[in-house]
This record gives sequence, structure tokens and C-alpha cells, in this order.
Amino acid sequence: MKIFLVGFMGCGKSTKAKQLASRLNCPVIDIDAVIVEREGKTIAEYFELHGESGFRNLERETLRTYNYPETCVVATGGGLPCFFDNMEWMNENGTTVYLQMEPAQLVSRLHNRQKRPLIRDMDDEQLLAFINMKLAERNPFYYKAKLIVNSFDLDAETLEQKIFQQ
Ligand code: S3P
Repeated sequence: MKIFLVGFMGCGKSTKAKQLASRLNCPVIDIDAVIVEREGKTIAEYFELHGESGFRNLERETLRTYNYPETCVVATGGGLPCFFDNMEWMNENGTTVYLQMEPAQLVSRLHNRQKRPLIRDMDDEQLLAFINMKLAERNPFYYKAKLIVNSFDLDAETLEQKIFQQ
């Protein structure tokens, strides 16, 4: 079983993916980290060189070409589900889980913005407005996930139970 974690920046995809993979005793794959390793560049550097559309193409390609083990947990970038038919692809190839969080909670968790090119120069107020705007755009994609869970205060054991209860 492949489990794809989706959700906005700061909702805890990477951390939860690691915890869940350790509980399931399977590999964890972080699409952003795969891109950084393959390209030898940070996400911010890639954005600067190729723009957002270049990054979205690479993200799409990476999602589809990665050699996934049969069982694994995959953390995706916050925008990945919202471009091309990536959400459909993930639904066809695994179980998708939307880690949902309130905009104010996301702001409070997004301290380190430097590595995130879309929000790196924003203060808290600008970030809150940005999150509200982006969530309106992105939620229709995130809501295509097979499972939607409130990610705030969610521990890995509960997450595992919810995934396997479905
Ligand atoms: C993005 C989220 C980032 C990264 C890139 C763009 C987005 O991943 O893919 O900076 O569009 O929301 P995280 O959600 O892991 O921060």
C-alpha cells in the first residue's frame, strides 16, 4: 500500500510521513527531497532558475517516475495535488490523506519560510491572507483525498488507525 500525504505547507506532511513509515516499518519518500537530491539544488534555487511552472513540471514528472516500493509513505509538496491530474494519479496508485489545518495554525507553524519560495518574504498578516486565498483555490483538489483528517495535535498512531479503518 502506498500512502500519499497531501496538504498545505506547514501542516506536518514530512514529520507525519516519517512517523507513520516508522510505525509501518516501511520507507518514507519526500517528493521535495527527491527533487533536491536529483537536481542538486534547493527548491528555492530551482524556482529561481526555472520559475514555478518549471518546478510544477518537474514535480509532476518526479511523482510519476519515482520507483516506489510496494509499501511506503509519500510526503508531497503543498502545491503538488493542485496541478495537472496529480491528485487523480495518486488516487489511482495509492491511498491519499489530506492533513487539514486551520489557517491560523498553519501561520503559527510556518516559522522557517526561507526555504519556501512562495512565502519567504511574507510577515504573519500577509501569510494569513495568502493561506486563506490559496486554500480557497487548493481545497477542491485536497478534498479529492480518500481520507481527510484534522492534522493539529494528530499523533501517528491515530493517523494509522484512521487510514486502516477506512
Ligand atoms: C509548495 C510547497 C512546498 C514546496 C514548494 C511549493 C506549495 O512543499 O513544494 O515550496 O506550492 O505549497 P511543502 O508543502 O513541503 O512546504
